[in-house]
Amino acid sequence: MSKTHLELTQVGISFPTPKGPFCALQDVNLKIKQGEFVSLIGHSGCGKSTVLNIVAGLYQATTGGVVLNGREVNEPGPERAVVFQNHSLLPWLSAYQNVELAVKRVFGRSKSRAEMREWIEHNLELVQMGHALHKKPDEISGGMKQRVGIARALAMEPQVLLMDEPFGALDALTRAHLQDSLMDIQAELGNTVIMITHDVDEAVLLSDRIVMMTNGPAASIGEILDVDLPRPRDRLALADNADYNHYRSAVLRFLYEKQRKVEPISAKRSAKSSEKSKTHHVA
Ligand SMILES: Nc1ncnc2c1ncn2[C@@H]1O[C@H](COP(=O)(O)OP(=O)(O)OP(=O)(O)O)[C@@H](O)[C@H]1O
Ligand SMILES: [Mg+2]
Repeated sequence: MSKTHLELTQVGISFPTPKGPFCALQDVNLKIKQGEFVSLIGHSGCGKSTVLNIVAGLYQATTGGVVLNGREVNEPGPERAVVFQNHSLLPWLSAYQNVELAVKRVFGRSKSRAEMREWIEHNLELVQMGHALHKKPDEISGGMKQRVGIARALAMEPQVLLMDEPFGALDALTRAHLQDSLMDIQAELGNTVIMITHDVDEAVLLSDRIVMMTNGPAASIGEILDVDLPRPRDRLALADNADYNHYRSAVLRFLYEKQRKVEPISAKRSAKSSEKSKTHHVA
């Protein structure tokens, strides 16, 4: 890993709403090195997708900005591929054609027709979609659509891969398989990854650093955890690893103690039952 290649400086954003501007993010500062795998974790609605959209160039920060390889990011570009939280495939194109569209944009005429076909099929096979190449999005399940979205992003061989809960809609086995594939692909290509996740185990298994966000409004980075586990990582071996469990509990503590969002149901219950018993007593 070398010097910083992606830098977020004082990033803030306000959205116009009927009730006036809503400040979603404030003072987000982050330096990422080439080839680093960074996860963003935080409670629902804190601003994770917004951060990713700003790096993707889909949203413009209200304050501060993003610099990639010394150039300011102001618009989307093929060197930053996005896997969206909701697959976002074009409904009138098949799985194959959705990937093809992105690949053509990146590789243009530098691949022959045969090479192009081989590359598209290879990437769809990687996410175990080789059997449904010519199905349209409304003919496949939610998890399958998400996998096509992942294949599309990987096929672009982007410098920066931006993934918004890419494995959230998948069953546990497919999820584990794709996590392993992603680690292999990233080790091979050395691309930078920013991945949003709600899954603490996924964050620890995959990341070099876990960026933990505070609750909004005006969300920012609360803590950053360095995950210093040797690679390649093996999920079974890590299950009994003391360091792994230490990282895991650090993230859990951040989410459920420091940035606790919802009152535990048991607390609500006991408040209710003490109210009830009061009423009972009076009656
Ligand atoms: N275009 C928009 N206009 C107004 N408010 C917005 C817009 N986009 C996001 N927000 C608000 O900004 C905050 C952060 O939203 P964001 O989608 O980034 O959260 P998130 O952390 O990705 O949540 P989740 O985990 O549920 O996906 C929320 O309060 C959301 O309502
Ligand atoms: Mg989101």
